[in-house]
Amino acid sequence: MLLYTVRMVRTMSGVQPTGNLHIGNYLGALVNWVELQKNYEAFFCVVDLHALTQRPDPAVLQRAVREVSIGILASGVDPEKATLFVQSEVPQHAELAWVMTCMTPLGDLNRMTQFKDKSTQQPDNINAGLFTYPILQTADIVLYRAEAVPVGDDQDQHLELARETVRRFNFVYGETFPEPKTVRSQAPRVVGLDGEAKMSKSKGNEVGLFETADETMQKLRGAKTDPARLRKSDKGNPDVCNMFAWHGFFTPQAQRDEIAAGCRSAQLGCVDCKRMLAANLEAVKGPIRERGNELRNNPGRLDDILAAGAAKARVAAEATMELVRDRIGLRKRR
Ligand code: TYM
Repeated sequence: MLLYTVRMVRTMSGVQPTGNLHIGNYLGALVNWVELQKNYEAFFCVVDLHALTQRPDPAVLQRAVREVSIGILASGVDPEKATLFVQSEVPQHAELAWVMTCMTPLGDLNRMTQFKDKSTQQPDNINAGLFTYPILQTADIVLYRAEAVPVGDDQDQHLELARETVRRFNFVYGETFPEPKTVRSQAPRVVGLDGEAKMSKSKGNEVGLFETADETMQKLRGAKTDPARLRKSDKGNPDVCNMFAWHGFFTPQAQRDEIAAGCRSAQLGCVDCKRMLAANLEAVKGPIRERGNELRNNPGRLDDILAAGAAKARVAAEATMELVRDRIGLRKRR
């Protein structure tokens, strides 16, 4: 009798521990992490080495690693199904990053728009790590030979670079890594409270995943709506209203239709529309906040999950590194 072992396709993704998770992270990435863990062998990572490019205060970084890990678990990543770990606890990430650095032309890095954005955000600290950041990201992905990478669309350029590097590596050293594909959610780019820019920790236009219902409503009050609608008696246009776009993520279709009709006819004001949104947001965030509190009250459990995750990730990572070292001509370790 022939016995086949079916290897599950792998997925990998990461999030930086730079501030608390927001609903952009949740909608753009985490919902898909939760989905993909059902059918893929999943490796999810808190990328603390990437965060070093911002030279965070050590105590702040330590706290952020815990908070982001808690946020990932509270959002539904199940440590029984997925491997959740902290990047620096798997040293092979840094080792493979060096190998990949030697596979990446400077010209490719020069094209990265995120480097340009980050350099403007932190003009006093334009370190080399900011420039080579996407190489470490490539290493994160290929270390697990991952084929599916659930991310928001701000990662498109980094993913394209990862694919090009994979193609170059495979061409030079022989077929070694699969090409990683981007997996998009329904909301690959959530616009922030300002109605203009992508929601992000650095822009201060975010709604935090752990914020209370009151805090959220407070923020929504100041959020931009249809700019042409100045008074409640003005007829609004939901198609150009960012708050209505958010309803698209949290509100059932029937209620959305009512809101759109009420907005167009000026029967429904922006404040009421925002109250409904806040209630629907709370229906999602409330249980996440509760699970987060449970995890915070049980720090030993989080330590256990992260330690077990790192141990598992190291085994997978070392298997890839053995193959890589062999391909590129480094001595076999004994
Ligand atoms: P980071 O920490 O900035 O964001 C984590 C994830 O959240 C997504 N995201 C959004 N999606 C939709 N709308 C938004 N407003 C929004 N803001 C953030 C991001 O696209 C991302 O999926 N470089 C990565 C981290 C990383 C990584 C990796 C990702 C390191 N190594 C390997 C995938 C694979 C980053 O800074 O994400």
